[in-house]
Amino acid sequence: MAKSNLYKGLVERYRDRLPVDGNTPVISLCEGDTPLIELHNLPKSLGLDVQMYVKFDGMNPTSSFKDRGMAMAVTKAAEKGAKAIVCASTGNTSAAAAAYAARAGMTAFVLIPEGKIPMGKLAQAIAHGAVVLQIRGNFDDGMRLVKEVASEAPVEIVNSVNPYRLQGQKTAALEIVEALGQAPDYHCIPVGNAGNISAYWIGFSEAAGCNTASCTLCNGKCPYLDNPMTESRPVMVGYQAAGAAPFLRNEPVEHPETLATAIRIGNPQSWDLAKAAVEESDGWFDEVTDEELLHTQSLLATLDGVFCEPASAVSVCGAIRDIKSGKIKAGSVVTCTLTGHGLKDTATAIAGREHVETINADLTSVKGAILKHV
Ligand code: F0G
Repeated sequence: MAKSNLYKGLVERYRDRLPVDGNTPVISLCEGDTPLIELHNLPKSLGLDVQMYVKFDGMNPTSSFKDRGMAMAVTKAAEKGAKAIVCASTGNTSAAAAAYAARAGMTAFVLIPEGKIPMGKLAQAIAHGAVVLQIRGNFDDGMRLVKEVASEAPVEIVNSVNPYRLQGQKTAALEIVEALGQAPDYHCIPVGNAGNISAYWIGFSEAAGCNTASCTLCNGKCPYLDNPMTESRPVMVGYQAAGAAPFLRNEPVEHPETLATAIRIGNPQSWDLAKAAVEESDGWFDEVTDEELLHTQSLLATLDGVFCEPASAVSVCGAIRDIKSGKIKAGSVVTCTLTGHGLKDTATAIAGREHVETINADLTSVKGAILKHV
């Protein structure tokens, strides 16, 4: 048989950069290899003098970036012989955990905040057969409980406190460097529990052949440190929703609130790693309001045809503001992570919008409706 070119997911793709060996049973749904889309119309219509790209990680198997980390976390859980995994989640982690647990023949227990995750994400957890535990509390309460229960019950935590999650998620940064042929000047990213910004910094650092204190697994022993893919690292910019912005307050937020439910988090677990990423890269944190982020979600969808979820739009939303103010310099290459697909949360995307015209089923009505718009 001819040699197959089948893409087998990011663990195989980056095997030499990940903590796996020949005996590791790789659990994959062909995650990763997501598009880096150059925005054409949005920067032009807003007069932004930069090259702007979105890393659309909503194009993963369960439609969010969590699949990258979950592939590694569940692979390592399988290697250990684990039978069950557990996570707290605002929705996307639970969807990914449910799917990868199904693939691995494990049970997934997911703790979600009551009434605060969109139907698309809940449907995924249920469809993949997870045990869904809705708690009368928020994500931060769930996170605390997951850490407590993991020391008393035979379950592996697959939240991003599990260092294998960050190893899987760093591959998005490697893909960006490969696609551009260099590191971007700035990388903009939504921040909730703060695992992803930490993972990108590990990835960008490895790509540039620098060691970083944040690289919790390899720490100076990475084989590719002598073999860089690019010369520089980007400035890392982390954006939060204004009602859930502990990094801006420099302390946990007790009652986080935002329509971007994915990042409705007040006590981020990867606090130190995220801080280090921003400090080491001369970057910054900032916040955007719900109104601003929803507006950006709509701009992306209507101007460039990219439909992301509200929390994802935070990266582009903040970038637009910082490009306009000159904080992000003119002429730069700017990449923004779009963490999840818009179909995850359709209710928020169309709330309050006149989106459907009802007309009679005859030619006159259809023609009249078309002529009204062209
Ligand atoms: N964007 C989306 C769509 C998310 O689902 C999350 C986190 C983030 C951004 C923030 O990433 O936590 O690494 O800083 N969602 C988690 C979940 C908390 O449970 O699905 P982070």
